[in-house]
Amino acid sequence: MKVLTILAAFIFAIFLVSSTPTITADVSAQDGKKPPEVITLGAEAKLGSIKFNHLDHITKNRSVDGTTQLACVECHHTAQPAAEAVKHPPHKTAWPADRTTTLTAELLEKDPNAPAVNVCRDCHARADTKPKLLPEIPQVKFEGSADVTIMTNQQAFHHNCGTCHDEVAKKRPDTTAPTSKKCMQCHKKAAA
Ligand code: HEC
Ligand code: HEC
Ligand code: HEC
Ligand code: HEC
Repeated sequence: MKVLTILAAFIFAIFLVSSTPTITADVSAQDGKKPPEVITLGAEAKLGSIKFNHLDHITKNRSVDGTTQLACVECHHTAQPAAEAVKHPPHKTAWPADRTTTLTAELLEKDPNAPAVNVCRDCHARADTKPKLLPEIPQVKFEGSADVTIMTNQQAFHHNCGTCHDEVAKKRPDTTAPTSKKCMQCHKKAAA
C-alpha cells in the first residue's frame, strides 16, 4: 500500500514537472506517422495497377549505384523549402510554398507541425482533370526537348520511376528494377 502511494506521488510529481509541450510531444511521438509500406498505384490504368514497395525504396540502398538510401525528396520533390528545390532544376516549387522543413522519416514521425505529405496526384492529375492543389497540371520543359511536357500522373510517375530504373540497369544489368520499356513488370492485371 505504502509503496503504491509513494509511487503514485512520484508519478504525479513527474507529471507536474513535465511542461505541457513535453507531454504533447510525447503523445504525438507515440502515434507518430510512419511512411506507408506497400502502395497500389494506378488503379484505373488499363494495363493494370502497380504494386510499389515504398518501404523497400526507403530502407534498402536504392540509389542508382546501389550504395545509399534514397532521400524522401528524390520523389516527394515539393516537400522541401523552395531554396532547396531550385538546386535541382527543373524543380522550383515547394508545398506549402513557405515551408521551412525537408521531409525525412524523422520529421514525419516526430514533428507534429510537419506539413502533410501530398500524394503525387494532388498536383500530377490524370489527363484532362484538374489537380486538387494547383490551377492546372504542371508543365516542364526537359533539357534537349523543344516542347513542354504536361506532367500528368502518367508522365510524372514514368519520369520519376522509369528514369531511375533505366540508370540503375545501365550500371547493374542484373537489376530487378523494371526499366521504362518493361511495362508489364510494373503494370499487373489482377488475377481473374
Ligand atoms: C517503373 C514502373 C512502370 C513502368 C515500367 C511503366 N509504368 Fe505505366 N505507370 C506507372 C505508374 C506508377 C503510373 C501512375 C499510376 C497512378 O497514377 O497512380 C503509370 C501510369 C500509366 C498510364 C496512365 C494510367 C491512367 O489512366 O491513369 C499508362 C497509360 C501507362 N502507365 C502505360 C505504360 C506503358 C505503355 C508502359 C511501357 C511502355 C508503362 N506504363 C511502363 C508505372 C510504370
Ligand atoms: C522512390 C520514390 C519515393 C521515395 C524515395 C519516398 N516516397 Fe513516399 N511515396 C511515394 C509514392 C509514389 C507515394 C504514393 C503517392 C500517390 O499515391 O500518389 C508515396 C506516399 C507517401 C506517404 C503517404 C501519403 C498519403 O497521404 O497517402 C507518406 C507519408 C510518404 N510517402 C512518406 C515518405 C517519407 C517520409 C519518405 C522518406 C523516408 C518517402 N516517402 C520516400 C514515393 C516515394
Ligand atoms: C504540390 C504539387 C506537387 C506534388 C505533390 C508533386 N509534384 Fe511533381 N511537380 C510539380 C511541379 C509544379 C513541377 C514542375 C517543376 C516545379 O515547379 O518544381 C513538377 C515536376 C515533376 C517532375 C518533372 C521534373 C523531373 O524531376 O523530371 C516529375 C518527374 C515529378 N514532378 C514527379 C512527382 C512525383 C513522383 C510526385 C509524388 C511522389 C510528385 N511529383 C509530387 C508539382 C508537384
Ligand atoms: C532513385 C531510384 C529509384 C526510384 C525513383 C524508383 N525506384 Fe524502383 N527500384 C529502384 C532500385 C535500385 C530497385 C531494385 C534494384 C535491385 O535490387 O536490383 C527498384 C525496384 C523496383 C521494383 C521491383 C520490385 C522491388 O521493389 O524490388 C519495382 C516494381 C519498382 N522498383 C517500382 C518503382 C515505382 C513504381 C517507382 C516510382 C513511384 C520507383 N520504383 C521509383 C530504384 C528506384
